[in-house]
Amino acid sequence: MNKFGCSPAYARRIRDDIDGVAVADLVETFGSPLFVYSEGFIRKKYRQMHTAFSTRYPNVAFGWSYKTNYLNAICALMHQQGSLAEVVSDMEYEKARALGMPGEKIIFNGPHKPAAALEKAVREGAMIHADHLDELYDLERVAQGAGQPVPLGIRLNLDAGIYPQWSRFGFNLESGQALEAVRRIKNGGKLRLRGLHCHIGTFIMDASAYSRQVKKMVAFAYKVEKLFGFSIEYLDIGGGFPSRNRLKGVYLTPEIALPSVDEFAEAVTETLSKELRPGDFPKLIVEAGRAMVDEAGRLITTVVASKRLPDGTRAYIVDAGVNLLFTANWYKLNIEIDRESGGVNEQSIVYGPLCMNIDVVDEGVQLPPLSRGTRLIVSPVGAYNQTQSMQFIEYRPAAVLIGESGMVDLIREAESLPDIIQREKLPDRLALKKLP
Ligand SMILES: Cc1ncc(COP(=O)(O)O)c(C=O)c1O
Repeated sequence: MNKFGCSPAYARRIRDDIDGVAVADLVETFGSPLFVYSEGFIRKKYRQMHTAFSTRYPNVAFGWSYKTNYLNAICALMHQQGSLAEVVSDMEYEKARALGMPGEKIIFNGPHKPAAALEKAVREGAMIHADHLDELYDLERVAQGAGQPVPLGIRLNLDAGIYPQWSRFGFNLESGQALEAVRRIKNGGKLRLRGLHCHIGTFIMDASAYSRQVKKMVAFAYKVEKLFGFSIEYLDIGGGFPSRNRLKGVYLTPEIALPSVDEFAEAVTETLSKELRPGDFPKLIVEAGRAMVDEAGRLITTVVASKRLPDGTRAYIVDAGVNLLFTANWYKLNIEIDRESGGVNEQSIVYGPLCMNIDVVDEGVQLPPLSRGTRLIVSPVGAYNQTQSMQFIEYRPAAVLIGESGMVDLIREAESLPDIIQREKLPDRLALKKLP
């Protein structure tokens, strides 16, 4: 029992299918562990979020935050629904281009954009958001080479009441740094400011933070217009909306603890309508990441052993750990099991397969006795786990997408040894002699 008198975990929830496809069949075909994504969920969530904003404000675009999950199939699904690509590195930029996104549909954020990447992005008409002064200088050099002014946005950081403040990205608003950056842009004469970007953090649990953010962004837009004559065509408010996940130590369920999508949309758009001049409708860009995809992803993992620790605690070893479930570090993920099991629930630890002490999927969950081979279905894991997964002593597993008709598509093959060693070079003098 937790302090609200409820069972502390989702123990004993049985799930033997995902979107109507049997867990046993998925594992038999694609192996374990296995990432499973739901196309139906992603489409529904996109519609819900897009509707929440676009029914309240007439000029809205979504930018899919690649780093949240950049499997091609997931990105293509987002683009099919109208999303721009929001990338934060040259690698992500190239990934979006390889998928077929034209430069002008790519938002290029991030603190490290090599000069050659900037040059390419300018040539291809991407929406570049400068993070710091050195990047402005690089962009000026590119503009000089191109012989024409380069349009750009800048990233702001500001106090929206979310602490610790994400002040390491972009130009600070309150200190005057952002205004100085715009002055530099104006005086340099080679760049044209057309957009403002700001991402205040992630898993924001307070909708009013977005009102404070938007109010400051609009005021700044009007200030740079008045002082320097730049007309701001778009306000990109970043992402940060929470998924229905549970941070460790939060007793309340996500339904109680977290504002709804509509509450976030209302906070943003109501502030826009109050702060913008009548008739002004700059494009509102939303870069929702985790809220869009987290609940669409599950990981199937298999119990490979059970043991008792010296203090008597029951522990299970499963074939997926923090190598694949990075977010297990701060979320209390739901764990469902694929079959009935007799016996009483017991507080248990779930360890991953890594030979590393920190590899813990759950440090305390009520589970019935689980036999070897039992599948655990861990969720929600659609955000940040695929992209942050690490290839440490294990191969990364396959990923599948279950379509709305129940069709299952393999969207990433499981790795094998050649994937791990293909870039390695063995000097001849170290080659092992062939055994006779
Ligand atoms: C610039 C930017 N936009 C969007 C996102 C997506 O954030 P979230 O997954 O919290 O919605 C991030 C994530 O850190 C980001 O850095």
